[in-house]
Amino acid sequence: MYEMKDEYLTGIPEIDREHTRLFEIAEETYQIAKQEFIPDKYDQIQTLLEELKEYTFLHFEHEEEYMESIHYKKLYTQKIQHEGFRRKLEELTRLDSIEGDQEDQDKVIDDILKFLTDWLVSHILHNDKLIGKL
Ligand SMILES: [Fe+2]
Ligand SMILES: [Fe+2]
Repeated sequence: MYEMKDEYLTGIPEIDREHTRLFEIAEETYQIAKQEFIPDKYDQIQTLLEELKEYTFLHFEHEEEYMESIHYKKLYTQKIQHEGFRRKLEELTRLDSIEGDQEDQDKVIDDILKFLTDWLVSHILHNDKLIGKL
């Protein structure tokens, strides 16, 4: 469902490796979310979403450091986007605030994953890919 594709490659090995890992965590979360009978499913999902968040934060730091190192001229645009996404992630990963039955929760998790990966794909295609084009 969620996977790294050739078209997402920036040509910068560290960044591509980290993007790959982000898709892997999203996929792992999706695989657990879609199964019906797993004990502690929501605990696992919460842990994975937390991991996704931490890893994304780390990735943004690395990416920004890299852009600074090459004096990338669109660094500011990237920083603003990263910051917006950080805030969104903080908000979305507060799963404990979600009330409701299993169906509601599954729907919420689906929406979160879809939002996260849509954002990631569009940011990679429209912003991150340009970094490698200098
Ligand atoms: Fe970025
Ligand atoms: Fe990135």
